[in-house]
Amino acid sequence: MSTAQSTPEVDQPRSKSVLKWVLVIALVTFLGGTRFGYDQGVIAGALKGIEGSFRVGNFAQEVITSWVTLGALIAALVAGIAADRFGRRPVLLAAGLLFLAGTIIQSITPGLEILLAGRLVAGFGIGFASVIAPLYAAEMAPKRIRGRIVSTYQLGITFGIFLAYLVSDLYDSAEWRMMFLLAAVPGVLLIIGILAVPESARWLVKMGRTKEARESLEKVTEPADVEKELSDVEAEVNAEAAEGSASWSEVFSPRVRKALIVGVGLAIFQQITGINAIIYYADKIFASAGLVSTESQTTATLYCVGLTNVLATFIAVAYIDRFGRRPLLLIGLVGMFVSLCAVALGFASQSTSDTGAGASIVGIITMVGLVVCIASFAFSLGPVVWTIISEIYPARVRGKAVSLATAANWGAAFLVAQFFLTLTSGIGESATFFLFAAICVLGFIFVWRYVPETRGRSLEEIQEMWNTGGSIKSWDETAPKP
Ligand code: BGC
Repeated sequence: MSTAQSTPEVDQPRSKSVLKWVLVIALVTFLGGTRFGYDQGVIAGALKGIEGSFRVGNFAQEVITSWVTLGALIAALVAGIAADRFGRRPVLLAAGLLFLAGTIIQSITPGLEILLAGRLVAGFGIGFASVIAPLYAAEMAPKRIRGRIVSTYQLGITFGIFLAYLVSDLYDSAEWRMMFLLAAVPGVLLIIGILAVPESARWLVKMGRTKEARESLEKVTEPADVEKELSDVEAEVNAEAAEGSASWSEVFSPRVRKALIVGVGLAIFQQITGINAIIYYADKIFASAGLVSTESQTTATLYCVGLTNVLATFIAVAYIDRFGRRPLLLIGLVGMFVSLCAVALGFASQSTSDTGAGASIVGIITMVGLVVCIASFAFSLGPVVWTIISEIYPARVRGKAVSLATAANWGAAFLVAQFFLTLTSGIGESATFFLFAAICVLGFIFVWRYVPETRGRSLEEIQEMWNTGGSIKSWDETAPKP
């Protein structure tokens, strides 16, 4: 097995063919994220139309919104087992087909029940994709640019959200069937992409299919490095195979526990720092910033939230493999803390001042706070969490452990969605945003103490780090220089 130090040049795609395959894999990862993001973003616009068509009340609207999360949570739990058993590609394909089926059911539904079935089916697709797309990307990407490739998943999510905001802006809410149907475009592209890409070499080695594993590696590895890469993967898989097959109890065993805490902890912090509450409340915050008409609020949400989210994700794509995961997370959490405090202060002053003049300055502070918060999330907790979750687990339990962390993410997302309204009506918006800011401080301490730097390491080298029980400090000291 290789040592913790690595040579920077080894995995840079030099040949055109390697570059082509890496780009195709990045595109599939991106499309997996786009489909997920689109669904997340489209519901706000579509709900108004659905409400009119089916005369549904508040409770039914909440159910329509949350059943996707429910479906995703269930699918995330089984996705890892399925991916370990059948391979990464078949599960990704299943995700693509479920997305498509869910899209069609939602857009042609004659009534509420069928619509809910469609939401659940789409949720299954999202759950599968949220586990497998980043995991597949991490297993296939050359190690020097792994963070960048996995981050294209988050880029896809943000692009999907933006696209959905745009569609909601362009179409009248009465045309909600069309809004759903347009999701078929990234859905079909995703299916075509999945059919083109190779199976993960790491999974193939685990199944004893070495010849196919070599062929898969040949696509994404420079010819001179294929044999070394293959023997590294084989060494790790063999060492793990000698211990028998991985069970759920092993996911909780002391050997995996540290990595499990890091992955699940990050997944939960990504949600309980309030990103989706902000995405959800954007219109209201813009209203408080002085934008009176619904159109101006929607447009502000489209650009200030939607576009900022996409653009700031590029910072992560550019720097995640250069600066590393930890600096991005730590800086992002500081940015979120400061901006969430600004939003909270904005709300606090708004409730104590009725004057139009005062409110506009407060409004601007709130608005800037919102943009900074979205940007800080977009270059840190958004992409980096998905990246780290997909790279820190031993190959033997990777599927199950990634499933668990992703399910924790969906569970936390569900809880925030459920309790955010209760919280704001109980303690007020200002206190709620201060609470999110306080959670950022806890997140900062968690990252500082427990999250190792994985930049530039192969997945096998990352396992060596856990196995040797190295402290985060000693691990950081030997990290490859950018
Ligand atoms: C999160 C989503 C969030 C999105 C915002 C993702 O990484 O998992 O819950 O809505 O980022 O861009």
